[in-house]
Amino acid sequence: MNIIVTGGAGYIGSHTIIELIKNGHSVSVIDNLSNSSPVAIKRVESITGCSIPFYKTDIRNRESLESICSKNRFDACIHFAGLKAVGESVARPWEYYENNINGTLVLLDALRKNDCKNFIFSSSATVYGTPESVPITESSPKGTCTNPYGWTKWMIEQILTDMHTADPSWNVVLLRYFNPIGAHPSGLIGENPNGIPNNLMPYITQVAVGKLEKLHVFGNDYDTPDGTGVRDYIHVVDLARGHVNALKAIENNCGVETYNLGTGKGYSVMEIITAFEETNGIKIPYVIDPRRPGDIGTCYSSPSKALAELGWKAEYGIREMCRDSWNWQKNNPDGYV
Ligand code: NAD
Ligand code: UFG
Repeated sequence: MNIIVTGGAGYIGSHTIIELIKNGHSVSVIDNLSNSSPVAIKRVESITGCSIPFYKTDIRNRESLESICSKNRFDACIHFAGLKAVGESVARPWEYYENNINGTLVLLDALRKNDCKNFIFSSSATVYGTPESVPITESSPKGTCTNPYGWTKWMIEQILTDMHTADPSWNVVLLRYFNPIGAHPSGLIGENPNGIPNNLMPYITQVAVGKLEKLHVFGNDYDTPDGTGVRDYIHVVDLARGHVNALKAIENNCGVETYNLGTGKGYSVMEIITAFEETNGIKIPYVIDPRRPGDIGTCYSSPSKALAELGWKAEYGIREMCRDSWNWQKNNPDGYV
């Protein structure tokens, strides 16, 4: 298929392009580089040996989007572009709603005007809010989100569902990611957060490389085996492959379908620290801090629908996730420079 990938210079997008190309798809990328570097695309080109058409533009730029879509005959769009920092979304809700929702609306309009109605959306486990029980299945209720970022995912899912109801020729796959970590085994691409990382694994790797002094563990009084938060970490390459499988659902005219992309297994913060230390032979100093506002105790998926219907399951384990996160960080201590 001929695929337009928005946000393709970012963490998950760059890994996904590699898997798409490996599976015979052609890919063009739109990104405004607000949270990424053009070097990521260059590195993807060197890994794949393919040249990738790249449009440095904003998905809210209607004129530019319409021109790109009308000059290419895209079969499908994979939509990663968006702002994703939970804390920042609380401080800057207007910017999050405007970028993520308005951006998606402009993109959808440009696509439908050019008869491209196959769409894969990067959603998140955050739409489940505080889960009533685990593992979380796709039929678990969409909950009350605790931040504007989460609400943008929730609302975009609804917009896409309504678009399909009005025009059933749309095929939409909503992929709810759990916690992506790791990096491409080449060590050439990986997660490159701006400033101090918000998420656990990039924080750990920056402690390991000496950029940060110690990890702050947010709470050890949750109702979990060791009291620290439990999450479903998934290797970003496995996550990327999930998009290739989702395209098969699109080819079968799936209508609207939702899939969890996770491993189905939860690890606590302490288990992640230990796995990182044992895999890489590096000690991670840490302190226990109070809970982070808005955090939940336990969140992990049931990925069985994706296995049954898409034939997808995560192949990498926690050691590969720790190995590849560190391999990326140690080879690129300052990210893409
Ligand atoms: P990322 O920030 O690395 O990638 C997003 C990309 O979108 C960046 O390259 C950024 O420059 C681009 N972008 C943002 N706004 C844009 C706009 N208006 N126009 C054009 N480009 C724009 O993030 P990521 O971790 O790769 O996440 C990709 C998607 O997956 C996001 O939608 C995110 O919300 C979602 N997601 C991520 C996680 C996670 O933990 N990383 C979890 C669940 C869902
Ligand atoms: N944690 C720490 N110290 C840190 C960072 C995190 O102890 O410095 C803990 C958190 O309290 C939590 C766990 O590590 O228990 C994971 O936290 P992350 O910030 O890495 O991930 P979250 O589960 O909070 O959120 C991530 C993404 C969201 C997405 C969600 C989906 O940031 O965008 O996964 O499950 F919605």
